[in-house]
Amino acid sequence: MDIPCNEYELMVLKKVARAAAKVDLPCYLIGGFVRDKILGRPTKDADFVCVGNGMVLAQEAAQLFRPVPKVNFFKHFGTAQFRIADGFDLEFVGARKESYTPESRNPEVAPGTIEDDQNRRDFTINALAISLNSADYGRLVDPFNGVKDLERGIIKTPLDADTTFSDDPLRMMRAIRFAAQLGFMIESQTLAAISRNKERISIITQERITDELNKIVMSPKPSVGFDLLYKTGLLQLIFPQMVDLAGAAYIDGKGHKDNFYHTLQVLDNAAQRSDKLWLRWAAILHDIAKPATKRFEEGHGWTFHGHEVVGGRMVPKIFNKLRLPLGEPMKYVQKLVELHLRPISLTKEDITDSAMRRLLFDAGEDFEDLMILCESDITSKNKFKVKRYLENFNLVRKRCAEVEENDRVRNWQPPITGELIMQTFGIGPSRPVGDIKTAIREAILDGVIPNEYEAAFAFMLEKGRELNLQPVQ
Ligand code: CTP
Repeated sequence: MDIPCNEYELMVLKKVARAAAKVDLPCYLIGGFVRDKILGRPTKDADFVCVGNGMVLAQEAAQLFRPVPKVNFFKHFGTAQFRIADGFDLEFVGARKESYTPESRNPEVAPGTIEDDQNRRDFTINALAISLNSADYGRLVDPFNGVKDLERGIIKTPLDADTTFSDDPLRMMRAIRFAAQLGFMIESQTLAAISRNKERISIITQERITDELNKIVMSPKPSVGFDLLYKTGLLQLIFPQMVDLAGAAYIDGKGHKDNFYHTLQVLDNAAQRSDKLWLRWAAILHDIAKPATKRFEEGHGWTFHGHEVVGGRMVPKIFNKLRLPLGEPMKYVQKLVELHLRPISLTKEDITDSAMRRLLFDAGEDFEDLMILCESDITSKNKFKVKRYLENFNLVRKRCAEVEENDRVRNWQPPITGELIMQTFGIGPSRPVGDIKTAIREAILDGVIPNEYEAAFAFMLEKGRELNLQPVQ
């Protein structure tokens, strides 16, 4: 065996080999598992291809595991899959020759040899196979020098790139995703074919496109993927608002920074600091409304007033279009986009505790993430400036920590409930209840009263008096 498997994996491969011998089907381990093992990356599933019916092999192989796993058949695709211990998925398919119709990505499938099957795979590094047959068990079958491409860090299609991408346009996204994930280069013919075939992405469902996009976002240096998406023209088709950030306008010799490359830098910075997908999306979207709010003010230069507010409003539309989840993740990203300038305003002199308290209240449990976004937003090339800005943010953190220790407004729970207000004044649900609650909250945030029950109760009575409400005895 040419690849470094652990004992458990070797046992799994032996079992599949035994099943294949029993049903007399030549069988190979193929694709991502082989690639990732050679690269020393973690693997979570293994694909097997056999010359014959993959479903028959899956059924036979499943019998060799205890407990016997349930086999899922996907008759339409001629594939079968089952899961063994620790979420390790085994997938089986019969070797195929495929030709795709231009209108759809559903292939016409015909049985084929192992070579046919390797030919129809997306990249040389994904077409590596290892024999599980007794005659040459463990032999690497590498007709396209995939191992060499793994060593050199190259993404390249096995056959003509136009055919490979036209057959399945999602592969254009996959090429870019692998480049970002693995830090590989896309070979020039392959890259040129992505630009030529980009319009074909329109036949791929948004969910699958977004799946790949999220993998790019989660890669160690996401800018690599976004830059490739931009340069090949795919980004314009799948996420035009991001392309609108590109370029810099000049008036009277005054320019502004290229907000596309600034955003990519912020995204990379955020990726270095956090593995949270949605924090990275906040980085992508933090300046998304700069093109829409851009003005040139005489004597002042370029401004982007209100871009955080307009940006916040753009978030739901973008999430909807990209089929990203519209619940909590969307609200979180929206909040971070809206608040991303606030910590900067708190780095000035003479900032009151109440300004700190309000930020803690508005950011709530996402305060730390907001600070990470703000730190990531520092993209100055001047090391001294970067150091100073970071120090300023550390001061904001410190002051906020002090305020939070005293006032605990970060996970705000009103000390006085609407229920208690109604009971105290003997009134039903009505406007004064809301007014009193708001007044108490504002008084606490402004530091007029401490965030405590006694003080809030007294304040409630005072507010009630102002509204001509009498406490019932
Ligand atoms: N494949 C392909 N074209 C696609 C998708 C997959 O040719 N559009 C082939 C590749 O040989 C790939 C294998 O099918 O290695 C398995 O695909 P999949 O599990 O989706 O991807 P992996 O390459 O395993 O990578 P990852 O798990 O990171 O998505």
